[in-house]
Amino acid sequence: MSDSNKTAKLTVGDQSWDFPILSPTAGPDVIDIRKLYGTTGMFTYDPSFTSTAACDSAITYIDGEEGVLLHRGYPIDQLAAKSHFLEVCYLLLYGALPDAAQLEDFETRVTRHTMVHEQMHRFFTGYRRDAHPMAIMVGTVGAMSAFYHDSTDISDPWQREVASIRLIAKMPTIAAMAYKYTIGQPFVYPRNDLDYASNFLRMCFAVPAEEYEVNPILARAMDRIFTLHADHEQNASTSTVRLASSSGANPFACIAAGIACLWGPAHGGANQACLEMLREIGSVDKIPEYIARAKDKNDPFRLMGFGHRVYKNFDPRAKVMKESADEVLELLGIEDNPTLQVAKELEKQALADPYFADKKLFPNVDFYSGIILEAMGFPTSMFTPIFALSRTIGWVSQWKEMIEEPGMRIGRPRQLYIGETERDYTDVEKR
Ligand code: CMC
Repeated sequence: MSDSNKTAKLTVGDQSWDFPILSPTAGPDVIDIRKLYGTTGMFTYDPSFTSTAACDSAITYIDGEEGVLLHRGYPIDQLAAKSHFLEVCYLLLYGALPDAAQLEDFETRVTRHTMVHEQMHRFFTGYRRDAHPMAIMVGTVGAMSAFYHDSTDISDPWQREVASIRLIAKMPTIAAMAYKYTIGQPFVYPRNDLDYASNFLRMCFAVPAEEYEVNPILARAMDRIFTLHADHEQNASTSTVRLASSSGANPFACIAAGIACLWGPAHGGANQACLEMLREIGSVDKIPEYIARAKDKNDPFRLMGFGHRVYKNFDPRAKVMKESADEVLELLGIEDNPTLQVAKELEKQALADPYFADKKLFPNVDFYSGIILEAMGFPTSMFTPIFALSRTIGWVSQWKEMIEEPGMRIGRPRQLYIGETERDYTDVEKR
């Protein structure tokens, strides 16, 4: 960030004030209004934060008009093709690609933290069997602060580091346990000889009664799904994590807040909602009916997996996800998957429709991810937990960046009050 030497003039009536304009390394300039209230006595009004930069960050850059997503400057398609999830985690967390020794050390540290406290197994049995795995994740990740006291002091850099590694390492174990618990199967412990994605697949699909061999093709596809969801700058769940952390709350509580926010169908819950929608459409001849419903202002139905607050072009993650879906289904010999056929035709018809073109609504990351996850054997209820475990590195990196910033202050939005002005209390018998 640099001072551009430019200023923005605000004029109200016969008074004017100048505000500095800050220039980022990429993206639009930013009017610095930190002193606005102090100098003018006015607030800005920006519900849903469509025009507000709430922090500085050097982690992820998105150009929504061009469909560009960079992590620490590296394009997402290059990372998806050439890197792997734990290397991307290192990049997001520490700011640079690791050399071979740094990568090995990082992978070893993560691998050695994958088990959860044994007492947590008993904690799980308190949940109802029919609980949604996201409900279990919100509760269990929040409860980590009760199990890992030695990494909750955010003023200690060592504890922050341990908490970060623990969260990255244990999230797949917790997500897999949430799944196993809801289907009534025994928990499967992680194995240190497996990579991150293979370990997750094994913890989800192995049973103690027989050997389980991880299919390397599925492990690669899983790793790519993790990579594509790793971070997405100041989205709703990340902003939730930042706001929760700004009060000084411990990292486990803050990440649990992020998971809660991610759950909604407008955010991470869209992958589940999208697959359910594709199944409901069922066949290509029904597509026009659903497109008509999505365009009808009196119908709350929306095309799930379409549209994005920031991307007004193809979501670059969706492109890679689509290629991955083709690859995985071909390798599994299920290219004629009817859900994929509906997805492809729906994408084609929606993109050719002026409603979607005019509003710049394109497929987002969730449009194809559910098809791959379903082909791998995951039920729809696990789609959002998989998003949550992938996004944990983004939340942790943004949390770390924020905590390490000098002069961090509690976040405190203001409001445009539209309620009653002061009035006197009336006793109940007089109302
Ligand atoms: N289907 C039909 N119309 C849509 C859709 C859609 N999926 N998305 C937006 N629109 C319309 C909307 O009705 C509005 O029309 P109008 O201007 O006539 O009122 C216009 O497009 C702008 O929509 P908006 O709701 O003001 O846009 P937003 O930036 O507030 O919402 C969104 C972004 C992602 C919540 C929204 O596009 C949506 O609900 N999409 C479906 C859910 C989804 O796929 N979410 C996953 C997002 S990517 C993963 C993640 O980051 O979590």
